[in-house]
Parts: sequence; structure tokens; C-alpha cells
Amino acid sequence: MSTTPLRERPSWQALAAHHADIGGRHLRELFAEDPARGERLRAEAAGLYLDYSKNRVTDETMRLLFELARECEVEQRRDLMFSGAPINTSEHRSVLHVALRMPKGASLTVDGVDVVAQVHEVLDRMAAFAERIRSGEWRGHTGKPIRNIVNVGIGGSDLGPVMAYEALRHYTRRDLTFRFVSNVDATDFVEATHDLAADETLFVISSKTFGTLETLTNARSARDWVVGQLGDDAAVAKHFVAVSTNAERVAAFGIDTANMFGFWDWVGGRYSMDSAIGLSTMLAVGPDGFAEMLAGFHEMDEHFRTTPLERNLPALMGLLTVWYVNFFGVQSVGVMPYDQYLKRFPAYLQQLTMESNGKHVTRDGHPVDYDTGPVYWGEPGTNGQHSFYQLLHQGTRLIPVDLIGFGRSLNPLRDHHDLLTSNVFAQAQALAFGKTEEEVRAEGTADDVVPHRVMEGNRPSNTLLAERLTPRLLGALVALYEHSVFTQGTIWGIDSFDQWGVELGKVLASKIAPDLTGPADAALDYDSSTAALIRHYRALKG
Ligand code: F6P
Repeated sequence: MSTTPLRERPSWQALAAHHADIGGRHLRELFAEDPARGERLRAEAAGLYLDYSKNRVTDETMRLLFELARECEVEQRRDLMFSGAPINTSEHRSVLHVALRMPKGASLTVDGVDVVAQVHEVLDRMAAFAERIRSGEWRGHTGKPIRNIVNVGIGGSDLGPVMAYEALRHYTRRDLTFRFVSNVDATDFVEATHDLAADETLFVISSKTFGTLETLTNARSARDWVVGQLGDDAAVAKHFVAVSTNAERVAAFGIDTANMFGFWDWVGGRYSMDSAIGLSTMLAVGPDGFAEMLAGFHEMDEHFRTTPLERNLPALMGLLTVWYVNFFGVQSVGVMPYDQYLKRFPAYLQQLTMESNGKHVTRDGHPVDYDTGPVYWGEPGTNGQHSFYQLLHQGTRLIPVDLIGFGRSLNPLRDHHDLLTSNVFAQAQALAFGKTEEEVRAEGTADDVVPHRVMEGNRPSNTLLAERLTPRLLGALVALYEHSVFTQGTIWGIDSFDQWGVELGKVLASKIAPDLTGPADAALDYDSSTAALIRHYRALKG
């Protein structure tokens, strides 16, 4: 690994000089000079077609970005990840979510253990359990089959499951009800359970550590709710299962570890939707659907592992993000799925991208002197178009977007799908090419309105197209973003797999919580703002 600081490396310097040359060029010119650009600047893998021609790049930009990736040893680091090396240096852990989707029979030995065999052992147990629930063989405390499944978890133990459930709803058992509780705000639990009967409800308590305050608080309320309705502590055995890496804490909570599905510390929370954390997904779509999703993940993993950077979708997307963040000063990236089923996909990506790459020091602890992870956000199209797209088109900030569309709708109805998809293409076109003053005037626009109607354009986008949203495609799509995040983090030299920044808030909250119920006149050992807020809260509480 080069010890030269990132900004001093030859490829970085060449990119900076190149940006000074071409950063101001307009996509209109780039397309005019190279009419076949849209056919050339594209790549395909695992059912996903990526058109990246509407980015502010030339062939030279791409060549320099690939050089940067090679200088930062993206390929070597990728191979290290796939080999099980402990690349999560600040936590001294391997990063092996890719092992979660390796096919049965494959093998990967880490510290003398075949992790793929372990993975499939758990997958088989999950499948047997899912079949028992789905067939009605598993009975609740009063002898009724399970009709409702409530996943209790937060962060990676919630966002993946809820996103996948919504994304794959078309494939789910409609006679089963799925709910997801994450927030420690009791409203989340109360609203999720208010119309459910405890004797038909299974709680899946999902927590990698089984030490997360929100999840344990909600799990305790769930236990009270079940025991309260069924009048018997013994009901817990039939209505609770756990997904965790920590068997001791699961047992201490009172869940029989025979009803626990494990995973390993080499699976990061935000990379865990394809581990046992996906139990609710498997209950919803069945073991075969889950296996299909894993196959999609694996297909993208193999593409990332074996394809030259020049045609490698995650590498291309990751490098383009670096180009905008570090050379154009871009602060945020929008992800707009044109598929209602993907409505939670942007929220899922926020944890994946921002918890991974929101870092201020390099892996060896030196402060970075360049920007790292951008803010990711988004909403399903076309809703966003009628809300914040105005700023994308005419605001003063440059915000690259990923537009995700499909060839076929899972709910074909009249002409809805063509109308939806026409918007994918139209938005990419409008963002890139805009509307010139001459064009606006040629429409007979009044002079005073002309400046308001001019659209500068030159706003970059990627368009991702797939045939239709299937479990397999979802797996490939998630893996695409996982490896794009990896590519970005590797260039920036940061640890994309730790999340120390979330700790301080947790510690401070645990100090504050007891003081919220203390006597009104008790001395408060806080800064003056926090102390005043606590006093005011106590007064409001009454
Ligand atoms: O606080 C952040 C975090 O640690 C995430 O990384 C993780 O996904 C989430 O909390 C939940 O953690 P757990 O699965 O251990 O309950």
C-alpha cells in the first residue's frame, strides 16, 4: 500500500489538473462531440444495465479514475476482503458479508473454520423454521398458527429487513402480516401491534449485539404485551425467536437459544440483511425466494471480484462518486428508485453509505485532508419530481443522482409503467441537457420570465435499468451499492466497516436518562444548555 498521502499521489494530482481543464465542460458539448457516447459509457452485470454517459467525464477522466483506483489498490484490497483478511482494522475483524451468499459447497476457511459451511448450517435451520411457520405447523401458546410476524431491531437489524420486505412484497405471503418496530419511541411499538392478537404473533428480536437499548426496550415491551395478553410466562417460548451473535445475552433475556439464529462478528450490521437478520425476509418470501436473493448478491460479488475496473459496475459507480465529491465539491448524492416497492431503499442506503464512509481519519488514524462520504438521500420517483427536483434542476448545488428503473412492472395496469419510465429518461435528459436561453426565447417566453425558465443542465446522473424487480435483482442491487461504498472507502483510505461515531450519543443518553426522572431541584452536572433543557423537560412532564 502506497504511503504517499492521497492528495499527493500522481493520479490524484493528474485528476485535479484534468478537472481544471474539463470540469466546466457541458454535457451538451460532450454528447455533441461524441454522438455514440450513450452506447459506449455503459456496463452490464447481474441483470443491471448502467448508463453512466450522462456524467461529467471524458475517456481521459475515466482512465485517470481507474489509475487512481489502481494506485489505491482497490483490487488488492477487494481480494483481501474476499479472502477473509481482517480489513476492518479498528475493530480487528474480517469483513465477510460476501461469504453469506456463497453457494453451498463453496468453501472459505478463516482461522481454521469453513465459514461458508457455517453460513449454510444457519440458512438450513432458518429454512426449516420458516417452513414450520409458513405451513402453520408451528403453533402459538394457545395452539393457533402464527399469522403476524413483528421484527424488532434497529439500524442494520431493521433497515435491511424492512427494505427487503417492502421491495419483495409482490412475492410475499399475503395471509401473513409483517410489521417492523425499531424506534424506542413507544408509538412505534404500540402502532405496530395495536390490531394484532398476541396468540397469533411471533416476535423476531434482531440484534447483532443483543445489547442495543432501543431493541431491548422494545423486546421487553413485547414480552409484557404477550405475557399480559396470554397470562403465562411460558408463552415467550412460542412467540419469541432471536437473531444475534450473542447467545449469552439472548438466554439472559429469556429466549431459548434453541430458537436463536446466529451470525458472526465478521458481518457488519449494515451488511447483514442476507444473514439470519433476514429471517423476517425469509418468512415473507420463503426459503426459495431468499435463496434467489442470495444468488443475486453472489452474482454481483463475482462480477465485482473478477471484472476489470473498466467494466465493473460497483467500481464505476464508486469512482464517479469520488470524482464528484473530491473534485467538484459535491456534498450529497440522490438515489431515486422509479419503483414504489423500493420506497425504503434510500433509507436503507443511508445507513449503508453514511455509517460506512462518514469517517474523518484514515485507517491508520491520520486526519483526512479531503472530503469522504457524501450524504445519501432519496425518494421514489415520480413523487420526488413534484417536491425537491426543482432544486436538482435549478438550485445552486450540484447533486448527482442515480435513477433506477425497470423494463416491466410487477403490477401492469393500463399505461402506468410507460408513463413512469418516460419520467426516468426525461429526468436524466433534463438534468443533463437543460434548456438554453435561446430555446426558452424561441418558445415565445416573455423577457422577464426567460431567466426563470432557463435550465442550466450539466447535472450528472447514472441510470440503472433492470428487467423487473425480483429477489435476485434486489440482491444484485444491494451488492452493487455495498461494493461501490467499498470502492469509495478504499480510495479515501478509511475503515468503511466500523462506526465509532455512534457511541458517544449512546453513552451520554444513558447518563441523562436517570436525570429525567430525578427530583426537580437535584443538582445537574451538565453544560448550562443541557441542564436547562432537562429542567424544562421535567416541568413539561409534570
Ligand atoms: O448504533 C449503530 C449500530 O451499531 C449499527 O451499526 C447497527 O446496525 C445497529 O446499531 C444495531 O445494532 P444491533 O444489531 O447490535 O442491535
